[in-house]
Amino acid sequence: MTKIMVSSDIQKNHFKIASCEKKYFQKCQIYTPNSIIKKIWQMIHERQNYYGTVLDLGAGDGRFSQYGNYGQYLGIEIDKNSAIIPNMPSNASIINQCAFSFKESNFDLCIGNPPYVRHQELEASWKREHAKILSEQLNENFTQSANIFVYFLAQALLKTTDNGLVSLVIPYEWVSRPSTQSIRNYINKNKWSVHVYRFKHDVFSKVLTTASITIIDKKDKNNAWNYYEIEHDLSIEKIEQPTGTDKKLLDYSPREKSIYSQRGLSPGKQNIFCLTEEERQKHNLKVGRDVLPCVVSLKPLAKKHKVLTKKLFEKLYVQNNQRCWLVNSQTLAISKNLLKYFDGIPYEDRNTWTCNNRDVWWKFHSVQAPTFLYASAFTSHGPKVVINRVGAISVNSAPGIYTKTKVNLYKFLNYIKNYDFESRIVNHSGKLKRIEINQMNSVIQEFLQKEKVYE
Ligand SMILES: C[S@@+](CC[C@H](N)C(=O)[O-])C[C@H]1O[C@@H](n2cnc3c(N)ncnc32)[C@H](O)[C@@H]1O
Repeated sequence: MTKIMVSSDIQKNHFKIASCEKKYFQKCQIYTPNSIIKKIWQMIHERQNYYGTVLDLGAGDGRFSQYGNYGQYLGIEIDKNSAIIPNMPSNASIINQCAFSFKESNFDLCIGNPPYVRHQELEASWKREHAKILSEQLNENFTQSANIFVYFLAQALLKTTDNGLVSLVIPYEWVSRPSTQSIRNYINKNKWSVHVYRFKHDVFSKVLTTASITIIDKKDKNNAWNYYEIEHDLSIEKIEQPTGTDKKLLDYSPREKSIYSQRGLSPGKQNIFCLTEEERQKHNLKVGRDVLPCVVSLKPLAKKHKVLTKKLFEKLYVQNNQRCWLVNSQTLAISKNLLKYFDGIPYEDRNTWTCNNRDVWWKFHSVQAPTFLYASAFTSHGPKVVINRVGAISVNSAPGIYTKTKVNLYKFLNYIKNYDFESRIVNHSGKLKRIEINQMNSVIQEFLQKEKVYE
C-alpha cells in the first residue's frame, strides 16, 4: 500500500532553504514529462533489468515510480501539499521530508529530477551548513555558490551503494562549471563512469538552462566520461567532446601576472551605485568627482566595435540613459552633493547583505579600469570585446582584461575577436554560452604562449 508519511521537521514547518517558501516552490516545482521518465527507465534497464531499492530526492508527485522494474521506490518530497499521482504502485511510497535531513542510505538507484534554484536565492545559513557537511562527506571543497541541483547530485552519490547507479535530469553545464568541480573530483577519485545525454531541445521551457540526463555508474570503474545528444524524438547520438564539436572544452587556468581577466566590480544594487545620466543630473553629481564612467553590460555595443571611445560611450551609454556612472565612493573629499545622494537612499532600499556588511554602507573598494571590456555571455562565435579608451570601470556581468605588461592592444583584440569560443564552450541555456573568467585566462595564456612573451 502507498504510504505518505510526514516527518517531524515538516510538521514543525522548519523551512530553512530559502527566505520565501512559496517563491522557492514556484522556482523548483517543474515536472518531468512522462515520455522522458519512460526513456530514462529504458536507458537504465539497458544496464540492469531490476533495481532492489530506488530513491527519488525531490519526488514531487512521485511520477518516476510509475515505470521501471524495482523492489521498492521511496520518494522524498519537502512540500506537504504536493499532489500524488493516482494509482501509485503498491511498492512505492513518498515521505514528506527535506532531502537533506533524510538519514537512510545504500540505495541501488537514485533517480529523479531535483530542483534547480540559483545559489543567490538560497539562504546563506542553509548553504553554509550544507556545503560544510557535503565537503566533509565528499572530502572535497564543496562550494556554497552552487545551484541547489548540485547539492542534490552530491546527496544522490552519497545515498547509493558502492555499486549503485545515479540517474538524474540536471543541467548539462555541470560537466564543466567551477561550481561542480568538487563533484567531478569525487567521481574521478572513485573512478566511476559517467554518461551525459544533452537534450538538443528545450525540455523545460521556463528553465534557463540546457537539460541533460546524467547517469553515473558506480559499478563501472573505468572512469570514462561519455557524452551524447538527445534529439526531439529521444533518439541518442554519441558525441566525442562535451562541447558537441570536435574541439576540446576550454580549460580553466589561474590568472597570469602580466595579462589577466577579472570579474566586474560588485558594488551592490545597480540602481543605487550605477546611475543613468538623468539620475546624475538630478542629483547634481559631477563626472570625475562624484561619479566615474562604468560599463555594466556590453549590450549597447555592436560586435564590430573595437574601441570604446569617449564619443561612443557618450552616444551609446550616456545619451541612451544606460547605467553608466559609478558613484565615486572612494574619493577622500566626498562632496556635499554625493553625501546628500547617499543620505536620500531609504534604508529599505539599501538593506542588502553587501551594504550591511560594510563599515559605511556605501563605501566599497575601488578598482582600476581594465584595458579591455568583454561580455561574459554570447550566442555565436565569441563574446563582444572592446579596448577601453574611456577608462570605464567594469561592473557585474561586464568583466575586464587587465594588462600589466606592454602588449600590442590591436593584436590582442584581434586574437580574442577571432578566437573560436563557440566550439569550445558548453551551452549555458538554449543558444546562450557563458565564458568563465578562468576560461578567458586560458585563452590569454594561449595568446601569450603564441607571442612568446613569457619571461
Ligand atoms: C523539479 S521538481 C521534480 C518533481 C518530480 N520529481 C518530477 O521529476 O517531475 C523538484 C521537486 O523537489 C522538491 N524539493 C525541493 N527542495 C527539496 C528538498 N530540500 N527536499 C525534498 N524535496 C525538495 C520540490 O518541491 C519539487 O517537487
